[in-house]
Amino acid sequence: MTENTADHLKAYPPTAEFAAAANADASLYDRAAADRDAFWAEQANRLHWHEPFSRVLDWDDAPVARWFGDGKLNVAYNCVDRHVIDGHGDQVAIHWEGEPGDARAITYAQLLAEVSQAANYLTELGLRAGDRVAIYMPMIPEAIVSMLACARLGLTHSVVFAGFSPSALRQRIDDAAARLVITTDGQWRRGKAAPLKEAVDEALIGGSHSVEHVLVVRRTEIEVPWTEGRDLWWHDTVAGAGTEHEAQAFEAEHPLYILYTSGTTGKPKGILHTTGGYLTQVSYTHHNVFDHKPGQDVYWCTADIGWVTGHSYIVYGPLSNRTTQVVYEGTPNFPDEHRHWQIIEKYGVTIYYIAPTLVRTFMKWGREIPDAHDLSSIRVLGSVGEPINPEAWRWYREVIGANTAPIVDTWWQTETGAIMISPLPGVTTAKPGAAMTPVPGISAKVVDEEGNPVTLGETEANGYLVLDQPWPSMLRGIWGDMERYQATYWDRYGDKGWYFAGDGAKLDTDGDLWVLGRVDDVMNVSGHRISTAEVESALVGHSGVAEAAVVGASDDTTGQGIVAFVILTAEAKNTGQDLVAELKAEVSREISPIARPREIHIVPELPKTRSGKIMRRLLRDVAEGRELGDTSTLVDPNVFEAIRTQKTNW
Ligand code: WTA
Repeated sequence: MTENTADHLKAYPPTAEFAAAANADASLYDRAAADRDAFWAEQANRLHWHEPFSRVLDWDDAPVARWFGDGKLNVAYNCVDRHVIDGHGDQVAIHWEGEPGDARAITYAQLLAEVSQAANYLTELGLRAGDRVAIYMPMIPEAIVSMLACARLGLTHSVVFAGFSPSALRQRIDDAAARLVITTDGQWRRGKAAPLKEAVDEALIGGSHSVEHVLVVRRTEIEVPWTEGRDLWWHDTVAGAGTEHEAQAFEAEHPLYILYTSGTTGKPKGILHTTGGYLTQVSYTHHNVFDHKPGQDVYWCTADIGWVTGHSYIVYGPLSNRTTQVVYEGTPNFPDEHRHWQIIEKYGVTIYYIAPTLVRTFMKWGREIPDAHDLSSIRVLGSVGEPINPEAWRWYREVIGANTAPIVDTWWQTETGAIMISPLPGVTTAKPGAAMTPVPGISAKVVDEEGNPVTLGETEANGYLVLDQPWPSMLRGIWGDMERYQATYWDRYGDKGWYFAGDGAKLDTDGDLWVLGRVDDVMNVSGHRISTAEVESALVGHSGVAEAAVVGASDDTTGQGIVAFVILTAEAKNTGQDLVAELKAEVSREISPIARPREIHIVPELPKTRSGKIMRRLLRDVAEGRELGDTSTLVDPNVFEAIRTQKTNW
């Protein structure tokens, strides 16, 4: 990035005022370093344990950790009951804002009643601890209630983003053998009701499946197809169930959820998280990284519950800390680009957590839009999902944060479960674009191929990001595929026992860490992980495509954009039809609109090595309009002439 140098060097220390009142202080680092187990035990004891733990970490079965293994707790009790028992039943838990403008304020006491109703009804349906439940819902309170009801009963939820296709849903239902699907009739999308229940029906067509019931919340009132006996309305069932339910304690390693994420092959990985360690770390990081003060702050994380950010920083972290938070159903530009700022004004949002792609979108829309609003309530800004470029960082701080609010650039992954690397507000002197240092209790390194630490000299040093110590919220495996778990994360630095994150990183001359992005075949589009293989397989699924290669090319707004190169079948070539639009639609349908390629180039050949591997690195050079890198290992270096000609003609 070419930045003005004076600006580039500028760092942002906390103000004395912020530091004096901050939840975190520098001693956290010292305490964690002095006795890591004692430090994590102290964090775990911020929660309510039905039965206390005696052992903090058991790493004997590495790479599967047991944290607080002999303790017992209930996640929903910690997120809801506890606050009501402590006398905060009247505090608003969720200020929910519907896309059409309807709104609901739900107190902790009401949340407890609703979660209890859902828990009672799911029990009546015969669901038992350990069973899997798929949740396929837009951002409405019932989605959060459903997750908490599962947690309360020890059911393992698998939330599937409501923008995913029926086939993606089916794949996830089958993989986890879900007994129940919870969904809605439809979802609001820019003023229109789009069907959702219909997609569940489509997913369940054909072949045997594990689903016994489909529980449907009425949201848009559109007509839905109905299968008597299998399908159940929420308002006919859950809404009439008893509002009292006693939470049972589960072992700390009891599974909490499976969340599917893209890997380097086409098949999504079911990342498995458990309860005690997970809740400890999401709660601890939410408290310290966002400096959240219960009863005072109004927190807003704009993620969707279909992603890990929604799990950890809308549901489990914030609710365990007795947060009052905003949950918004719609997009930032419906009915117009003022929506987020109106919501911030309306509820007095103090902590705002978004993805860099959104910051860049706001920049594009122009600062006069946020400038037209009173955003003075904001005191902490968060960023997650991809590297934030320094220019966007500074704009975010200046325009949204009145040049005073600290920015926490939080690095973590579906697999890590919770924030791992981030500045601490009130403690860290932040640099625009740097995730800075691991949070207290977490250890990370930047190393070369062989595992040697990158050596800091006069200049910056690049390498791979690894986590060299187990952490409480780490994944416990890939659902149904422990070999893949070992191979994906632990084999790369197998002799050292380190977790390979799949990200490149650099250390600057102060030793601060900058995450540079994925080094594998995973793309990051607007903070969403999509594998090249997944998109390629959707493309070759079309009868007109013989071969496809997909790369992520840098994009000013979305971070990366998907660029596909396809070879048509002889038949498709003969028809002479323009297949590009159709292929884009095919990918949207097969995976999700998020995976829709930005560009598709029809090419005569793909660049391959002698062993038949597609050289994506070179295709990325083409897609980004760069000089080609080393082409010496290609079978036919001339292939690029053909590709370039096609690309410019297209
Ligand atoms: C990227 C999202 C730079 C990274 C919580 C990681 C980031 C992937 C940051 C995980 C950040 C996330 N700076 N890169 N602050 N946060 N990433 O599983 O490449 O959807 O590996 O989890 O997002 O994406 P996931």
